[in-house]
Amino acid sequence: MHVSGTGRSTRTTVFAPRLQALLRDHRGQDAFRLDSDTVGVAGPALTDAILAARPAGELERPTFKPLHGRSIPRAEASTVMRAIGRDVRAALAKPTAKDVDLSGEWPHVGHVYLRDLILGADPYRLRILMDRALELTPKLTWTIIAGGAALPRGLRPGAPVSSIAGLTAEASTYRDRRYAMGLYRRAAAPVCFTVSTLVANALWLGAPFADDTPNPSILYESMRLLPPSWNILRHASPEYPALDARITAADDVLILALLSQRDPAIWDDPDEFRPERWDRLDPDDQAGYLPFGHVSERCWGRHMVMPLAEMLLDLLRGDGLTVDPSQYTAEVPLAGLLGVAGVRVTRA
Ligand code: HEM
Repeated sequence: MHVSGTGRSTRTTVFAPRLQALLRDHRGQDAFRLDSDTVGVAGPALTDAILAARPAGELERPTFKPLHGRSIPRAEASTVMRAIGRDVRAALAKPTAKDVDLSGEWPHVGHVYLRDLILGADPYRLRILMDRALELTPKLTWTIIAGGAALPRGLRPGAPVSSIAGLTAEASTYRDRRYAMGLYRRAAAPVCFTVSTLVANALWLGAPFADDTPNPSILYESMRLLPPSWNILRHASPEYPALDARITAADDVLILALLSQRDPAIWDDPDEFRPERWDRLDPDDQAGYLPFGHVSERCWGRHMVMPLAEMLLDLLRGDGLTVDPSQYTAEVPLAGLLGVAGVRVTRA
């Protein structure tokens, strides 16, 4: 268990047992064995050396790992990212509807809001791929993709869909449609999932925020305490034993930002939510802080994530929304995307 900081001190973040054990047993350690073929790393210097040693392989890439056994060439990945980037910019440029109500259970409310804002014009068979329930079961996702791809129709010419949906229209065979829908899910879903999770985490850790606290500081501090991308995996590679004798040639390496970002040797009051620490720190150049990955290849989506999350925070703060004062605990399940579940957001 972890009790969060001032003003919000009545709120307790309950980590899943495996995460609790990691924090309890390994916080402050540099490198440690997690199982017979995995070494955990949380020391900033070793983290930096490992991530700098070689680029991520295609099986290590969360977004553009091979799809149905097909590698995704870099040029294609860039096309997909440019398309979703256009859609996000278009969404950010829209005037805010007057009747927006972001109260309710987060991150669900934020997810649905973003899905409708960015992808609302897309046909049902694509939008359904954004359903949060699908995250729980990859099998179900693929059943739905296979079902949707079997429909032998593209998009109507000139239909007002997102740029990313437009890419699926070029697919003519079942196989290609299935692949294109998989890519849609891979690139569009994280926008809704990760941003709503990040903002739910921020609300839980810090709301209500002081009026003069800038949104970026709130988000950087939230990603420090609850990093949505809490671990980075690198498969066994000959470069790693050369860097540290505790890593053998057969060991995978799990870089644990969750630990380095709460290391008492690096951070004052490591468990406290203190957005003002970012008045002085540079989030792109801070030892042990890597919410968007390593400088050698930072997250390609971060230029969408930050403005979307800031936009949501502006709406929430402008509307006087905060965490229901009668909610004292929230759980952080063990999942690839780390975040609090079921945050009840109400008017202050
Ligand atoms: C809170 C939101 C997000 C966080 C914290 C995050 C974090 C990260 C991290 C840590 C990496 C480095 C992974 C590694 O080195 O193995 C990464 C890479 C990447 N991210 Fe993100 N990400 C976020 C959202 C997104 C979104 C919305 C997209 C796409 C629309 C995206 C696309 C990518 C891509 C393409 C890469 C490069 C590796 C790959 O192909 O998967 N990210 N991200």
